Amino acid sequence: MTDRAVGWKSPSNIALVKYWGKRKGQIPENSSVSITLKESFTGTFLHFSPSGNRKGELKSFSFGGKEEASFSSRIGSYLESVRTLYPFLVDYDLRIESSNSFPHSSGIASSASAMSALALCLTSMERVLFDSPSDDESFFRKASYAARIGSGSAARSVYPGYVLWGKVPEVPQSENEFAVPLGYMVHDELKDIHDAILIVDESPKPVSSSRGHALMESNPWARVRYEQAARNTSRLLEVISSGDLEEFVKLTEAEALTLHSLMMSSEDGYLLMKPGTLEIIEKVRTWRKRTNIPAAFTMDAGPNVHLIYPGRYREKVINFVEEELLQHCSKGRWIDDSSGPGPVQINKVDG
Ligand code: DP6
Repeated sequence: MTDRAVGWKSPSNIALVKYWGKRKGQIPENSSVSITLKESFTGTFLHFSPSGNRKGELKSFSFGGKEEASFSSRIGSYLESVRTLYPFLVDYDLRIESSNSFPHSSGIASSASAMSALALCLTSMERVLFDSPSDDESFFRKASYAARIGSGSAARSVYPGYVLWGKVPEVPQSENEFAVPLGYMVHDELKDIHDAILIVDESPKPVSSSRGHALMESNPWARVRYEQAARNTSRLLEVISSGDLEEFVKLTEAEALTLHSLMMSSEDGYLLMKPGTLEIIEKVRTWRKRTNIPAAFTMDAGPNVHLIYPGRYREKVINFVEEELLQHCSKGRWIDDSSGPGPVQINKVDG
C-alpha cells in the first residue's frame, strides 16, 4: 500500500481563564483553563505516502473541498517547525484535507480546532508507522505539545471537558509545554456545561491574536495581569471542584472583561467589542439578576459572546437567546454548543 491515511475530528474550546501573552517557543505567560466544545470542530484527514527521496513535503492542502494556497503555506511552515518531534516526516509526502463544522467566516476561533486536529493526525501517523506513542496518555500529551506549537489554545483542545494549560502548583502534572485534562476533579454541578455562541460580527478581526499576544510585551499592566491570572486559575480550580456557580460566573466574566481591557490598554489600544457585544453583556447581567440563572458571558479575542451555563437551564436560556439576544447577532446567527467528548478519530473527512 503506498497511500495511507489517518483522520481526527477535533473541537474548538472556550477559555474561562484566558491565555494572553506568550514567550518564545509558545510558552504562555500565564496558565489558562478552558472548556472543550462539541459542535464547533475541524475534521482533518492526513494522507501519507513514502517520498522515496528524503524530501518529504506537503503536496496539497484542501479546506472545505477547495485547494487553499494561503492555508497551505501556514501548514507547510508548521510542519517544518515540528520536524524534530516527528522526524519521519522527511520520508513522507503528505496530502491534507480539512473542513470546519462552522462557517470559516463566523468569527469562531478555528486555530484551536484546526491545529489540534492536525497534531492528532501527525501523532496517529507516528503510531501507525512505529506503534508509538504506545499508551494513550503519552499519545495525547504529545499531540497537545505539538498542537501548542501551531497555536497555544490548540494545546487544550486535545482533551474533553475542563482543561488546564500552564504550570501551576495545585496540579502537579501541569506543564507549560502541554495541557492536562481536569475531568477527575469536576463537581457534578459543572459537568454538563453549555455554550450559546452569539455571532455578533463575522468580519475578519482587525488585530490578530498573534499581534495581541505580542502587544502584551509592552503592556504596562502585563506583570499585574500575569499574577492575577495565576490567582484566577487557582480560584477556578477550587470552583471546578466545589461547584460554586456564583463564583464560576464572577470569575468567568471578570476574565473576559480583563482580556478586552488588556487590548484597550495596549500600545495603539484597540477594541474588538462591537455595540452588540455590549448590549448582550448588559442584557445577560440584567436577566441573571431577574432569574437567578447562573449564565456567564465570556469572549475570546473578538466581538462574539459565549454564554456559558449549566445544561439544566437550556430551555430557559434558549428562550432568552431567541427573544432578547438574537437581535444583536449578525443575521440572527448563533451556535448551540456544549462541552463534549473531545476529539474523536474519523475514517473520512467529517463536517
Ligand atoms: C483570547 O491560541 O489563538 O482565545 O498561540 O498565537 O495561536 P496563538 O494564539 P491563540 O490565542 C487565543 C487567545 C484567547 C484566549 C484563550 O483561548 O486562552
